Order: sequence, then C-alpha cells, then structure tokens
Amino acid sequence: MELNVVLLIMLVSCAATAATDYVRPPPRATLSFPWSKKRSSEPQQVHISLAGEKHMRVSWTTNSKHSPSVVEYGTSSKNYSFASKGESTSYSYFLYSSGKIHHTVIGPLEHNSLYYYRCGGEGPEFQLKTPPSWFPITFAVAGDLGQTEWTKSTLDHINQCKYDVHMIPGDLSYADYLQHRWDTFGELVQPLASARPWMVTQGNHEKEYIPMLEDSFKSYNSRWKMPYQESGSVSNLFYSFEVAGAHVIMLGSYTDYDKYSDQYSWLKADLTKVDRKRTPWLLVLFHVPWYNSNEAHQHEGDDMKAAMEPLLRAAGVDLVLAGHVHAYERTNRAYNGRSDPCGAVHITIGDGGNREGLANKYVDPQPEWSIFREASFGHGELRIVNTSHAYWSWHRNDDDEAVRSDQVWLTSLSGLECLNEKADHEPRKMLLEP
Ligand SMILES: [Fe+2]
Repeated sequence: MELNVVLLIMLVSCAATAATDYVRPPPRATLSFPWSKKRSSEPQQVHISLAGEKHMRVSWTTNSKHSPSVVEYGTSSKNYSFASKGESTSYSYFLYSSGKIHHTVIGPLEHNSLYYYRCGGEGPEFQLKTPPSWFPITFAVAGDLGQTEWTKSTLDHINQCKYDVHMIPGDLSYADYLQHRWDTFGELVQPLASARPWMVTQGNHEKEYIPMLEDSFKSYNSRWKMPYQESGSVSNLFYSFEVAGAHVIMLGSYTDYDKYSDQYSWLKADLTKVDRKRTPWLLVLFHVPWYNSNEAHQHEGDDMKAAMEPLLRAAGVDLVLAGHVHAYERTNRAYNGRSDPCGAVHITIGDGGNREGLANKYVDPQPEWSIFREASFGHGELRIVNTSHAYWSWHRNDDDEAVRSDQVWLTSLSGLECLNEKADHEPRKMLLEP
C-alpha cells in the first residue's frame, strides 16, 4: 500500500516536472540540398492548388524552355484519360534566371477522389486527392515555414495527419533575395504539395523588393499562382476560394488595404457574395496578426485591422489565421481590441520552423482576449465537422514528436444572431454602403 502511494507521488511529480521543465529547442540549421543532375525537361517543384469549382491548378518547373505545359491525368495509375494544356512564365532577378514555370488547370474533377497525373509528358507519376464536396473537411495550417530541420519536422507531422487542404498564412521559402532558395523550397515541399492543394498568401519574406531594380513579389507571383482570377480579384496577392462548406479569404498584409484600395473594394464585394447556407464557415488568412500579445511585431497589424476589421465583423467571420510572429496564440472571439461574441477567433501560427527561431517574450499581463500562447514550433489542424461545429488543435513539435498542446471546439457564427444586426449597426453599415 505504502509503495503504491510512493509510486503515485513519483508519477505525479514526474508529470509535473515534464510539463513545467519543457525546454524550447533552439533554431535548427538550414537544410542542405545536394546538387543532382536532372534532365532539362524533368518536372520539378510540383505543387497543386484549388482553381475554382471542381478544378485544380498544377504548377511545376522545367529547366527546358521547350517542355510543354501539359498535364495528363486519370483515376487509375498510368492510364491517363484526360489531358489539359496550360500556360507558362519565367522571370529573371539580377543574375538569376528561373526555369520555365508551368501552370495548368485540370478538371472537372470528382470530389473526394484519387487522381494520377504526369507533367510535361514525361517524368514520374504523381497522385493527388481532391477535397470532399461537404463536411467533414480537414485543413492543415502552418505559417513561416522556411527550410530548416524544424521545417522538415513540421512537414513530417503534417504528412502524418489526414488532411484535405493545406493553408499557409505567409512566409514560405525564406529565400530572401537568393532565388535558388525558391527552387530548393519547391523541392522540399513537393512530396506534400503535389498530393494536396496548398493555398498560400504572402508574407514579408515574399516581397524581395529592391528599389528601382526589382519589383515586389516577383518570384512569389510567378511560382505560387493562386485562383485570383477565378475569384474576381485583380491581384494574386488577395483572392478567395470555396471548398466543402467553407468560404476562405486570403488577404495581403503588404498590399494596399485602405478604403480606396483595390483590395478593400474586392474584399467588400467578396464578403457580400458569401452565402452562409452554401458555406456556413467563413475563414480569413493574412500574414500580420491583428491580435498579438507577443513582444515581436507589436502593433504592426493595427492599420490593416482599423481598415478591415469592421467588414469582417459585419460578415460574421468565424476564424482568422495569421503568421509572422514565430509562436502560437489563440484568442477569444474579439473585435475592436476586446472580447466580442460576434467577432472572429484569431490564431497566430507563424511557427512552421524557419531559421530565425522563436519569439518567446510576451506582453505582461496577458490581455483579456488572449486565451493560449506559447513559443514553440508546430502546426494546426482545423476539422470542420458540420455546419455548426469545428475542432481546432495545435500540435507542438516536442523534439520530433507532434504533441497536441491546445484544442478547442468552435461554433460557427452562421447559426447565431450576430448576422442579423440592423443595417444602422456601424460594421454592418460599412459592409452595405455602396
Ligand atoms: Fe513575416
């Protein structure tokens, strides 16, 4: 009996020690990518993205300028019943010249189905799975990825989870002007990004602007073409898409967002088109968080928040996912700097594993709207179960194990009174005014 008590005490004290003494790991080295000889027409850096109802865009690079932008595909291996021809682009940046970057839209595709495909008429066969037409659907989320040993760990964990679509709130490759790093990033993510759609928006590391010499987002826009035309946008830097019962809006923190900007007009028009019967869940992603109690990047999102938060509030956005701060934080539903039952839940998830390391200093005391905050690398999973409920979980990279460290059930605003505000309610007025 006494022995049992002693064992129990030892066990409890071990568990307590393990929880409190968790030592956050330091940054890990940038991965090295050994050079390997490839045929000039071999498809490289293959990734896919959603491109309108029942369609996917397949993107890849070849060194050869003569390789065709053709994708052959079908529902059984090596038996391609369909083929689509797309477009191509390329860019130069100082002494660097990109390969031929191909973008080809395939479809119509069946929902929730496995397809086999081949790019440019040769090379290896890839497989992709299309998302379901309705709930349940699972999104994987990780921002500020980079290409370090930690990035690899995060990607391995995402690969082990059963998900339909991957979403990235900015800062992809951390190429930072060295263009070949965009190529190695494409190589690193290909196993995942060729199999499930990767929907991205841009961060500061995508900008690569050099006054009078190089335009902003040159590489990002060439390589990561998103369905902006399909969603009525004039820029690859902001767009939306619908999948299963979710309407997802991707905004740009580094392009104009004031009342007179293209992005603002487009956002307003896009929000008024949302039909909560068809898409009960409304999600928004951008790079710089609006609710952030980490000392890093304090107040950087304030101007965009002041300009756009009333629109999001009036439309009843359920969840906002941001990056930029290299840590994890989840808030209460919030609006105008306070908890608000009709505001969005804000999650900062800029902890994919980049070379800059973690942001581990927090504002004290913790603001009332901040529910959970921790500086560790990891990834998030959003499983939307039905029209009203979704399960969000955050998985910390404890050494190399994915450990679920935060979880919460979310309820969609589509079923609540919030969407029935009177037309003279201030945010509602902003959304409805011409
Ligand atoms: Fe950033």
